[in-house]
Amino acid sequence: MEEVLALIEKKKQEFAKSGLFEFMRDTSIDPRQRLAFAPCVSPFVMSFGEFNKYVFREEPTNDPIQVIVNNHTYEDDHHWLWFLEDLETLGINKAVKFSDALNFLWNEETKASRWVSHQIFRSAFGASPIAKLAILEVIEATGNVFLSTAAPIAEELRTITQKELLYFGCFHLEVENNHSKDLPQQRRLSETIQLTIESRQEAFEVVENLFEAFTKLTAELLVYAKTHSFEQPFAKPRDILQPLKAA
Ligand SMILES: [Fe+2]
Repeated sequence: MEEVLALIEKKKQEFAKSGLFEFMRDTSIDPRQRLAFAPCVSPFVMSFGEFNKYVFREEPTNDPIQVIVNNHTYEDDHHWLWFLEDLETLGINKAVKFSDALNFLWNEETKASRWVSHQIFRSAFGASPIAKLAILEVIEATGNVFLSTAAPIAEELRTITQKELLYFGCFHLEVENNHSKDLPQQRRLSETIQLTIESRQEAFEVVENLFEAFTKLTAELLVYAKTHSFEQPFAKPRDILQPLKAA
């Protein structure tokens, strides 16, 4: 499994160079604008809870890797609740017509957010525990890059608004970092598992495919944040960055 972890580390470094993270670190932009992609990421965030409950978790199990996966699912299946709270805190919990909400969730602008969820579901359905461990490692790696970039924005906002963001803030990052009581065991297992040629191939494909889907998601979120003002998050897309920067 060591080769799979090495590939994930390499992919993580590339992923961290996505334009979205550069944008999120740009302190010349209003911190609320740097999180203005929040509505766009909702299909992924909301699906991820269900994914943990109904796809990733398999009980009962005697497989030590599946036990680790299961423990993670209990830690990860409710983070969408923090996301909903953040939407309120960020002031983007606007009333919209139900049909408009549905149209938003299934339109072109949020396609990659759904696509990454489909890819995670597809990779995990009926997958071996080893492939699931690879999925878990990719989700942790991409999540770590995202949350470590979002947390300083949440800190900036906290000093301005005195309000704490849960999903985007240090709270979530710390939960993920201290995540699993199984972490040392997970690392040991991951490093020592000897893979067959087939299972290595399966894990490599999962890693490549999921990183590609997550990278597409970051590109979509960047476009969304650059074309939707945090004050009118559901308005028609337009280039809002130039006037903002000039102001
Ligand atoms: Fe999480």
